[in-house]
Amino acid sequence: MIPPVLEIGAEVTGYAVGDEVFGAVDVARLGGASAQYAVLDVWTHKPHGMTWAEAGAAGTGIETATRALDLLDVRENTTLLVDGAAGGVGSIVVQLAVARGVRVLGTARPDSHEFLRELGVEPVDYGRGLPARVRAVTAAPVDRALDVAGAGSLGELIELAGTPDSVVTLADFGASAYGVRLSMGRLGGEPDGVHGLTSATALADQGRFHVPVREIYPAHQAAQAHETAAQPPRRGKIVLDMTRTSSVASTELY
Ligand SMILES: NC(=O)c1ccc[n+]([C@@H]2O[C@H](COP(=O)([O-])OP(=O)(O)OC[C@H]3O[C@@H](n4cnc5c(N)ncnc54)[C@H](OP(=O)(O)O)[C@@H]3O)[C@@H](O)[C@H]2O)c1
Repeated sequence: MIPPVLEIGAEVTGYAVGDEVFGAVDVARLGGASAQYAVLDVWTHKPHGMTWAEAGAAGTGIETATRALDLLDVRENTTLLVDGAAGGVGSIVVQLAVARGVRVLGTARPDSHEFLRELGVEPVDYGRGLPARVRAVTAAPVDRALDVAGAGSLGELIELAGTPDSVVTLADFGASAYGVRLSMGRLGGEPDGVHGLTSATALADQGRFHVPVREIYPAHQAAQAHETAAQPPRRGKIVLDMTRTSSVASTELY
């Protein structure tokens, strides 16, 4: 059984012991870990239709995706290119972008293209030579580009989006050489994307957002879970279910 909220901090309002919530710990302070119990730093009510596996994997992905879309000022009627769109973060970014009324092009290996189409994305093969493949899909300009893969595409993303200001990376530590922003959230002293938890919850209730879960492993198969998470094709999230050996919630591997 997944335990609901067990204790509440003195200044927390709007939530009660027994509520079902999801969210994230303060990764900047605590780092990454898998645990039976967590003191959440950010949270919101869990949508009824969201499974615990999805909820356990949702928190940091939604915060990261929302922060990146905000940083790029992604708005209705623009075109966004996401490099690395099928992975754990990418598959959340693209859905939240589509919900903003954005046209989303996303890169993936060919056998993940159908997965992207199901998320409302126009797929393009990843790897070198991206500008020609994107232009074959659309003659319209790419307004913004988000690099989620860190695979060395920043030069090509700038070529497509026109200027380094129109590109953000979540994963390329060589970004400053291109004049591109590397978003690190609170670690980088930036505004966070925590407000995205509430809006993603509303979208989930409307059937417009879900967390794609590729596989769920019991806690005692944590090593195998990490091995699978490193194997392509990577689509959505791998979840470690701590309830399968003890009594608590799913937690995300990232
Ligand atoms: N800065 C932040 O705040 C922040 C927060 C969260 C995560 N991250 C970082 O973001 C990155 C992505 O995380 P994730 O959880 O989404 O990882 P993931 O689930 O492993 O997804 C990575 C995706 O990139 C694709 N890919 C592989 N080679 C590529 C290439 N050459 N070009 C474009 N895409 C390629 C993979 O496809 P195949 O598997 O099919 O090859 C996969 O779908 C990681 O580096 C992570 O550390 C940063």
